Amino acid sequence: MPSQRKNILITGAAGYIGSHIALCCLLSGEYSVVTIDNFHNSFPTACKRVSAIAQRELGASASDEDKKALDIEVYRGDITVKEDIEKIFKDYESKGGIYGVIHVAALKAVGESGEIPIKYYDVNIAATVHLLDIMDRYKVRNFVYSSSATVYGVPEEVPIRESAGLKPESCYGRTKFMCELMLRDVCDSNPEWRAISLRYFNPAGAHPSGEIGEDPRGRPGNLLPLLAQMAVGKFPEGLKVFGNDYPTPDGTCVRDYIHIMDLAQGHVDALAALPKDDIFQNTDKGTGFGASGGKYKAYNLGKGKGMSVLQMVDAMQKASGFTYKVETVGRRTGDVPELVANPELAEKELNFKAKHNLEEMCRDQWNWQSKNPQGYEGASA
Ligand SMILES: NC(=O)c1ccc[n+]([C@@H]2O[C@H](COP(=O)([O-])OP(=O)(O)OC[C@H]3O[C@@H](n4cnc5c(N)ncnc54)[C@H](O)[C@@H]3O)[C@@H](O)[C@H]2O)c1
Repeated sequence: MPSQRKNILITGAAGYIGSHIALCCLLSGEYSVVTIDNFHNSFPTACKRVSAIAQRELGASASDEDKKALDIEVYRGDITVKEDIEKIFKDYESKGGIYGVIHVAALKAVGESGEIPIKYYDVNIAATVHLLDIMDRYKVRNFVYSSSATVYGVPEEVPIRESAGLKPESCYGRTKFMCELMLRDVCDSNPEWRAISLRYFNPAGAHPSGEIGEDPRGRPGNLLPLLAQMAVGKFPEGLKVFGNDYPTPDGTCVRDYIHIMDLAQGHVDALAALPKDDIFQNTDKGTGFGASGGKYKAYNLGKGKGMSVLQMVDAMQKASGFTYKVETVGRRTGDVPELVANPELAEKELNFKAKHNLEEMCRDQWNWQSKNPQGYEGASA
């Protein structure tokens, strides 16, 4: 008997967030995973390890068919190339079709986005247009989108609700905002379309096994992976803290860190919520850009608790035992003093809950880094 699992296409499943989403999809028992990734910022090993973890965790209970469905099918391809995407939909016509897409692949460095905006518009927007067009032609109209809290810009009120106005301050943020607008229009055009954007706050940590985690190419742009890499001897120059005169308790910027396993599970929750008509009935409360008639909604994925840069340094110091060299320098353009989610809408409508605490995030981040000091590079599987 073939597996009863539905096929989900996750773009960028080899990346940090995509790999953890893929694992949660497999562990849910509901989905099998196919991905397209060009490994621009990731390694194929990540997908193999995800399947291995799922095999191990579900092994005893899974049937032989189900075990096969735990292998992620990887298409090495570029989402900006229409043919690369279409090949997957074509191939899957004979494999039960694709049930839905979780669109994760993107470029994500705020600073870089201002330097090479056309590349960002191509990968983050043009490719999303291709993807939606192909999905529409193949009548695959369930969509979950990786958006970001950066769409809020400088919020007028913290914690931030989804209905807050969207004023992204960077090219990267605008690409996320424009994709959200596009999704709303697509959903308005045809009641068959259902889309949920998930506005991530600050994902942190790794799967507790330490077998998958965040391994960006080059110097990490995010605080926690940078601190973890420093603790294994990289970047001996130490940490530069940008500004200590913000209107926050210790003067450094405050962010809402959420454990990656909680964030990833939010996607399984969103897939489960997509068929529910009632969540789409009051869309003006869940977009930030007004009411629309279609089945489109956005949700914050955060913990609802703020942590300052110095609190994070302290927590990572406890987890890794490493003493960090910290230097305060001037503020960085574009940095917002405080970004904290109000996660109530996702809790109520998606049944989402961020369960892990800060110690668990730092413990798992360090567990991954200490087991993989060079990341995936050089790893055999
Ligand atoms: N990490 C964060 O803090 C954060 C916060 C908010 C939103 N997001 C969003 O979440 C998503 C995933 O972020 P991440 O941290 O996992 O990043 P990541 O770089 O680890 O993952 C992105 C994946 O997409 C792939 N990719 C990039 N360009 C591609 C292309 N042209 N064709 C095919 N594959 C391509 C990369 O190789 C990588 O595997 C992105 O959409 C990002 O904007 C991330």
